[in-house]
Amino acid sequence: MNHTDNDQEYFKSYDNFQVHELMLRDRSRVTAYYDAIMNNKHLFENKVVLDVGSGTGILSMFAAKAGAKLVYAVDACPTVCHLAEELIKSNRLQEKIHVINKRIEDIEKFDETIDIIISEWMGFYLFHESMLESVIYARNHFLSLPSQNDDITPDQNESIIIFPSHAYLYCAPFVDQNIRIELNTMWKDYFDLNMTPILSHIKNSKLKECVIETIEPSQLVHDAQLIQSIDLRTIQIDDLRLLRSFCEFDIDNTCIISGFCFWFDCYFSSNNNSSILRSTRLTTSPYSTKTHWKQTLVFLPEDIYPLKGDVVPVNIKLKQSIENRRQYQISISLKKIKGGVMNNIGCDDDNSNTEWNIRRRQRRRSSTISSDKRTTTDNKSKDTSSDSTSSNSDDDVDSNEHSIPCSCDRDRCKLIKTIIEKYTEETIVE
Ligand SMILES: C[S@@+](CC[C@H](N)C(=O)[O-])C[C@H]1O[C@@H](n2cnc3c(N)ncnc32)[C@H](O)[C@@H]1O
Repeated sequence: MNHTDNDQEYFKSYDNFQVHELMLRDRSRVTAYYDAIMNNKHLFENKVVLDVGSGTGILSMFAAKAGAKLVYAVDACPTVCHLAEELIKSNRLQEKIHVINKRIEDIEKFDETIDIIISEWMGFYLFHESMLESVIYARNHFLSLPSQNDDITPDQNESIIIFPSHAYLYCAPFVDQNIRIELNTMWKDYFDLNMTPILSHIKNSKLKECVIETIEPSQLVHDAQLIQSIDLRTIQIDDLRLLRSFCEFDIDNTCIISGFCFWFDCYFSSNNNSSILRSTRLTTSPYSTKTHWKQTLVFLPEDIYPLKGDVVPVNIKLKQSIENRRQYQISISLKKIKGGVMNNIGCDDDNSNTEWNIRRRQRRRSSTISSDKRTTTDNKSKDTSSDSTSSNSDDDVDSNEHSIPCSCDRDRCKLIKTIIEKYTEETIVE
């Protein structure tokens, strides 16, 4: 499938009214744009605005109401453009808004110079759909920028107005009790049958792909870390091909990690960096009102059991698919600290055909993150502490020989069993 085929399918998906209805019903989304535009009327008054991917024309109408002289509402989908024209007319804004049914990339020039770009381009985990490329294209081709030869002063930089102006992607580890309980208990005693051979198949199908779902804050086992920040005034299309980040989660409380959860925030700022966080924010955080973006969950092949004091270092890679640039492959690899050298024990694999999947390699059980760290500590104090002997003997046993949960006397197994029981109890109480 080439790019054109993909694009045809992509635009066809937006020729469905239900998709636009879903977006219009997302009050957090629409309110953020409304507030950002209406609270900045002074920026829009008498200005020429370009709405990249205008859909029903909702943002164009906000801009017109905020005092824009002219709004170009550009969308590649014919059906939604007709609807936009109808809505714009019924709000008597047709003199101010010109609907253009084209791909933004197919427009050579506009009659008037563009002062402001507005666009709702964000996909799941921010980058899905790759519509950001079209906004960058519009910025580079149509926005009136300070002369290329001049040094851009902070004042001139502020004259570049793109709403939203900044976007941030976050990542946090989460526990999913339902999947874990189902995988670890349900199939072992199913109508008096042992159905465990089905496990490997279910694990593959359920956990291989990203899941778009809302997550309860109580499922997050650590604060989120910022993993990508985008400045819409400066980012370039090539920057979006491969996005790498590394973060470390210091574990305060022994917990279970089933996977990593992603969400984003956008800010609408027209000022310098210091005031970004004071500008209007659109958040898709699990701590805030649910949005149609929900959260993106990437499951690990196995739950991991870090102990209090452990550090879970994570490498995250978002790679735009070569076959379909609208999609990304999210790779997560966990690393452990061993003798001062970072060793990859992650789930980075060679399955490059499947989109949305964790790239995985047969990896050691994640419990080694903590057991190895303990071994290092224990080695130092081996001669003086009797505890270290018992800890070492604990770790001498290959973790893979123990089921999860396991009822043996090993310290680690007892601890894991307690954690699982605690989480199960919490689920029942909820
Ligand atoms: C997420 S929707 C947003 C619609 C509307 N702005 C809103 O806020 O409800 C994105 C819209 O952008 C359009 N679109 C995406 N890429 C485009 C491009 N390169 N040129 C023109 N329209 C595009 C899609 O057809 C779709 O209607």
